[in-house]
Amino acid sequence: MSELASEPTSACRQIAERMVAPGKGVLAADESIATMSARLEKAGVEATAENRRRYRELLSATPGLADGVSGIIFCDETLRQTFADGTPFATAVHALGILPGIKVDAGAKPLPGGLERETITEGLDGLPARLAEYAGIGAAFAKWRAVYVISDATPSAGAVRANANALARYAAACQAAGIVPIVEPEVLMDGTHSIERCAEVTADVHAAVREELALLGVDLGGIVLKPNMVVEGNGTSVPSAPEVVAAATVEVLRAWPAELAGVAFLSGGQSPERATANLEAMQAIATPWPLTFSFGRALVDPALAAWVGKDEQVVDGQNALAARVAANAAAVRRRAEL
Ligand code: 13P
Repeated sequence: MSELASEPTSACRQIAERMVAPGKGVLAADESIATMSARLEKAGVEATAENRRRYRELLSATPGLADGVSGIIFCDETLRQTFADGTPFATAVHALGILPGIKVDAGAKPLPGGLERETITEGLDGLPARLAEYAGIGAAFAKWRAVYVISDATPSAGAVRANANALARYAAACQAAGIVPIVEPEVLMDGTHSIERCAEVTADVHAAVREELALLGVDLGGIVLKPNMVVEGNGTSVPSAPEVVAAATVEVLRAWPAELAGVAFLSGGQSPERATANLEAMQAIATPWPLTFSFGRALVDPALAAWVGKDEQVVDGQNALAARVAANAAAVRRRAEL
């Protein structure tokens, strides 16, 4: 590799290390405009660009956030907005000691040739130019989410391969731009499948992702893997205990080489408390890479419920977020204590 080509890679390694630094995780606040609007409306808040901005400022400006949060993922709309004082989001969070990130995928769309409900994540067209622009705005890392549905017939081999290839093309483009890719293959909790079936599917999905990353020369030391935890389907009645989830999840992850910078889990619809308990149980198992959080709903749902759009309840919203961040940061700090 020429010296020029290796520069972004080494920059990526440093950023990735910061993202998964001991005792810290990533806050996912990158809901698309449609998803964020639906969540605001459900909470009784009018879905306007200004309310989405107010909500993201509330989250980002939570006092002490940088103690447990290394980075915040935003969507395109937020990255182009400013705090109320006119400071762009990326600049504002950088100043708070937090890395700004950007969701760059264009969403999971029906996969032609796939089976029922299967999707392919779109957004590769023009991606290098978009990444260059985001780097200019201050983004240090990016996110791309692939989605897999478990049923008797799915995920199909075609959906697993197509999504792995897209994740790898995205990751390679990010590293070429000096941006750390969060590689997110999410096997959904929806269904009545067993934890063993989730383990099997998650392992197959990861194997394909590893193969495609290797084919495009992606440096695993400069990516953060964002997987689902290995859990039973949410249509089953008895949730597995944290120790069971932890053991099953780490067993699947063992196929990743030590070189991988780190793992930051999505919460996937688990309750905030369950996601934290599972994360904490994992810290008791020795692994070559840090295991931390990159939760969305499990961090922000309580904040939205406490704020409900009212200026006089911004502090309540921030306190609710701070409580979830503190619980998860304490969970991941257990690794150092054990
Ligand atoms: P959840 O933690 O709510 O699953 O969201 C994480 C995320 O970033 C989804 O892409």
